[in-house]
Amino acid sequence: MKFYMIFSRAQRGLVFAACLLAVVLSASSIMAASASITKSEYGTTADGEAVDEYTLTNANGMEVKIITYGGIVTSLRVPDRNGNLDDVVLGFDNLQDYETRNPYFGAIIGRYGNRIGNASFSLDGEDYTLAANNGENTLHGGNKGFDKVVWTAEEIPGDAEVGLSLNYLSPDGEEGYPGNLDVTVVYTVTDDNELRIEYSATTDKPTVVNLTHHSYFNLAGNGSGTIYDHILWIDADRYTPIDAGLIPTGELAPVDGTPFDFRVAKAIGPGIRSNDEQMIFGRGYDHNWVLNREEGNTEMELAARLYDPGSGRVMDVLTTEPGLQFYSGNFLDGTLVGSSGGMYRQGDGLCLETQHFPDSPNKPDFPSTTLNPGDTYESTTIYRFGVD
Ligand code: BGC
Repeated sequence: MKFYMIFSRAQRGLVFAACLLAVVLSASSIMAASASITKSEYGTTADGEAVDEYTLTNANGMEVKIITYGGIVTSLRVPDRNGNLDDVVLGFDNLQDYETRNPYFGAIIGRYGNRIGNASFSLDGEDYTLAANNGENTLHGGNKGFDKVVWTAEEIPGDAEVGLSLNYLSPDGEEGYPGNLDVTVVYTVTDDNELRIEYSATTDKPTVVNLTHHSYFNLAGNGSGTIYDHILWIDADRYTPIDAGLIPTGELAPVDGTPFDFRVAKAIGPGIRSNDEQMIFGRGYDHNWVLNREEGNTEMELAARLYDPGSGRVMDVLTTEPGLQFYSGNFLDGTLVGSSGGMYRQGDGLCLETQHFPDSPNKPDFPSTTLNPGDTYESTTIYRFGVD
């Protein structure tokens, strides 16, 4: 029996109107799913400074939470191959833990990512002494690096992407570094499931700068166990071997024939148990890879790909930087209870920190980290999420 025979003309009109309404409603709900940014109070530091949390969401539901303390990414939810969202970074669920016991979870790192040997360097004939917060060396900016200051935030609204601009003015002499350093870090979440991080800085005295981001990723989900089954690819023929204090020796060594060869994607776990001296120094992977790019080329390029076979999640790391620190969470020792509610143990997350090489201020042959007045430090990294 045909449609026009069952229904009267009036009924057919009603059905048509209902269909039209459904089409209009679903179209408007698609249009409504644009990127958004919201703000809420997160807490107050021990010094009495107010800290806010911003939630950046894209049209696919990817959601990134960032607090103004340390510019810390506290949560990063992305879909797995079945579309289920999960938090893929380690973190805490309260400000006090971030202030007192954070091994740099999710933080902006500066002024200098990774180590400077003997906590000192010379620049233009001046000697500078830095805070020695890692044995005799300085690590990640010193005692109170950029991970431990409150940043000024400004929302950047948009349709296909939303951003959060964070600014901090680091005074001349802070942690021993010369020059007033005006730093801006812009986090952007795009509809292509990217977290883009753009760093810029200017100074009023010659200084050194090396900014990075320190999320501990676990693509199977925060608190789900170790990352040893994750498959990693790094576009690097060479890496910078370290001494027992984790300071580069200055050599750019071939990865060929070593556990550091990730030119063909492979699981992380087996190499960690290798008795290679470098692995013993790092207690696992804690090294800088020399990305395959022409010296001085600052184009955005794919540097690494991380894949979790269980969830199907893939993370591409694209950067303008010459180096990548792959740290396999070796110092997580079961003393921290995280935002997952469980305890974090060795290897429960890994960092892929785009950077200039560690100890560059004392290694004239490494790409320079000097920033002079009148110049602008610029660096961009994208963590792009997908599934396979
Ligand atoms: C360093 C590690 C350090 C860790 C701190 C990494 O970037 O390379 O040596 O222990 O940060 O969480």
